[in-house]
Formats: sequence, C-alpha cells, structure tokens
Amino acid sequence: MLTHTVEEGPLINSFRQLWDEIAPIGRDPHSGGYLRYALTEPELRLREWFREQADERGMPVTEDGNGNLFAWWGDPDAGDAVLTGSHFDSVPHGGAYDGPLGIVSAWLAVDELRAAGVTPARPLVVGAFVEEEGARFGVPCLGSRLLTGQLAADRAAGLRDAAGVSFAEALGARPAGADPALLGRFAAFVELHVEQGRALVDQGAPVAVASAIWPHGRWRFDVTGEGNHAGTTRMADRRDPMLTYAFTVLAANKEARLRDAHATVGRVSVEPNATNAIPSRVTGWLDARAAEPDTLAALVEAVRVKVAERARRDGTRVTLTEESATPLVAFDGGLADRLAALLDAPVLPTGAGHDAGVLAAHVPTAMLFVRNPTGVSHSPAESAADADCAAGVTALAKVLAELTT
Ligand code: GLV
Ligand code: MN
Ligand code: MN
Ligand code: MN
Repeated sequence: MLTHTVEEGPLINSFRQLWDEIAPIGRDPHSGGYLRYALTEPELRLREWFREQADERGMPVTEDGNGNLFAWWGDPDAGDAVLTGSHFDSVPHGGAYDGPLGIVSAWLAVDELRAAGVTPARPLVVGAFVEEEGARFGVPCLGSRLLTGQLAADRAAGLRDAAGVSFAEALGARPAGADPALLGRFAAFVELHVEQGRALVDQGAPVAVASAIWPHGRWRFDVTGEGNHAGTTRMADRRDPMLTYAFTVLAANKEARLRDAHATVGRVSVEPNATNAIPSRVTGWLDARAAEPDTLAALVEAVRVKVAERARRDGTRVTLTEESATPLVAFDGGLADRLAALLDAPVLPTGAGHDAGVLAAHVPTAMLFVRNPTGVSHSPAESAADADCAAGVTALAKVLAELTT
C-alpha cells in the first residue's frame, strides 16, 4: 500500500494551478469558508469555469434540464459512458474541498490519460451535480435525485430558498425530472471526494474506496408556544417553545449516543427572535444518521416520543416532519473490491451523503476518498495536502482507464 506521497512533482503543480483558479470564488474573507450556494453568483461562476475547462479539452457540455452539467470526451454513441465528477455547492461557510475536489480531479485525470496516450473505448464524462448539500433549497442531492426520479420534478420546482425564490425560478425553467435515457447511458459513476473523517490518517493511506453510506435524513421540528413579555410573565404561566427545543437537542444527542449513531441540530429559527420576548415558535432541524436503517428509525422514534411528552409538560405543541431521507447505500461490492485491489487501497464506509449514493441505485457506482489530515469537514478548516490530492488524481485516472478501456 502507498502510505506516503512525495511533496513536489508536475502533477502536484498542475493540481495547485487549477485549484488556485477556483479558490477565490465564493470565499468569505471573514470566515475563510465558502458561500457557494447552488445557482447563486459564485456557483454560476464555477459552472462557467466548468464550461471553460470542457472547452479547453474539446469536450462538449450537455445539461439535463435539472441543472446538472456533463462534459463528454469521446463519441457519445460509442457505447455506455463512464461518469466522474461531484458538485460545486457548499454548506454555509463550508470547506474548499467538499465537492470541487472531485471535479478538479476529474479534469486532471482526463489530462493524465491524454498525456499517457489513452484513448477510451467508451465515452468518459465529467459531471457537476447541482445542489448536493441542500443548503439553498433544503433537499440534499437535489440534482441527482431529480435525474434518477427519486424526487418528483413538481416537488423540486416548488422548493424555496430563504428569500422565497423557488428552485424553478433559480433554474430559469421547470426542472425536467427523471431522465432514464441519459441515466441508461452511464455504465459506471465514480465520485472522488475529500474524506470527512480521519480513517485514512489512522490507516496511513492517501486514498480509499468507499463501501457504504449510512442511511440518513433530515427532520424539521416545529415547536409552537405563546409569545409573551420576558419581564412580566410569571415562570409558571409560560408556554415557552425554547424549552421544548432545548430538550429536543439534548434528547437527540442522548439517543444517538446510546445507539452509536449520529444526531445533530445545526440549524434553528426563532420567532420573534427578541432578547426580551418569550418565543412564539422555534423550528429546529435534526440531521440523524446510523449504520443500520432500524437503528436510525429507532433513534428518530425515541426522540419523537420523548419530545411529545416534554411538549405536554411545557404546554407547547410540536410536530416532526421528515424533509429528506436517504436509505442505506451499499456500493457495488464487486466494483469496490476491484478498485481497492487496483489501487491497493483500504475500503471504508462513511456517514456523509453524496450524489454517488443516489446514483448507486441506478448505475454501478464507486467512490474514492482522499485523506483529510484533521478529518474536519463542513467547516472552513477542511483541508487536504496537495500531494494527497495528486495521489487522488493518479488513482482516479487509473480507475477511469480500467473502466473505459
Ligand atoms: C452532505 O455532505 C451530507 O452528508 O450532509
Ligand atoms: Mn458536504
Ligand atoms: Mn460533497
Ligand atoms: Mn455530501
């Protein structure tokens, strides 16, 4: 197994050059993180950059009517294609690597293959999926769910961002929805992604192959009570939704720990959001994930029951709404084993969702992870060494050569 990578070399330089082209786009100077929400100005610039990269390589770009972009190398009619790529959009103040690393690596892998004189026997396609994080319209992997038909076009069209702009308005058209003909042209999908944990640090390897994605979902809990004056309302007379909300956060954490699962409340909205007013309404979003579907279902149910009981005591009302659910994804085992042997790389599961997880139900799909020295992700502190990114490109090029020839 390759356990360390060299610090310099032409591929590392090419990586740095391409990486630096997009590094300033959507970067918040205060946090150092990225605000690259789908179909907003920075993400539109990245999509433009995608088209320029495709042009430079003579790869025509098609769009699927859902906001996903595909750049084609080779005769589109020459048999089923191999797709690689990822997404440009970020979570609020997210890291540089989550998403864009897969697209930058794809361009560099194409360059590596061309430099090595490889002519793919089937088309090789570089893709950029829209709204993977769900940070703007609330549903993660929106573009891939639309393409595969896992999300109805009508529902996607009406999703709205915080300013009230609908997905259809942002896209400039009603999304086209499922495209089985396009999907049927992909013989395989390989998404390269920065690792979002520290398994590769522990294992001393720069690249891994994914085995599975934990089932996960998002649940919105709306707690309503009675807005009132902070100074004059007796404690015994209050119906304070903030208490039920706070209990929900603690209950989710406790239930997740009991089951070796993950639960996070990372987003909250409070009305009227005034220091001197008891809130009338608190809405929180629970992100929950577990290795097994039954564990995840039991976790969410336990939170629901405990919170309903707590709401009775607080004199509030609480509703729990499932906003998105992603089942357990077991990547094509044969493909994962084949790639792990080809790369002499470890095989790992992950708790993070990806477009690859959505496509896996329709197309033989694999993921490659690139070592993240701190394991931090969805944060400005997310990082990867240039040498490991170059090792990722080399691995991706090897995989693409294997799958296209
Ligand atoms: C997306 O990155 C997710 O796993 O939430
Ligand atoms: Mn992410
Ligand atoms: Mn990602
Ligand atoms: Mn993701």
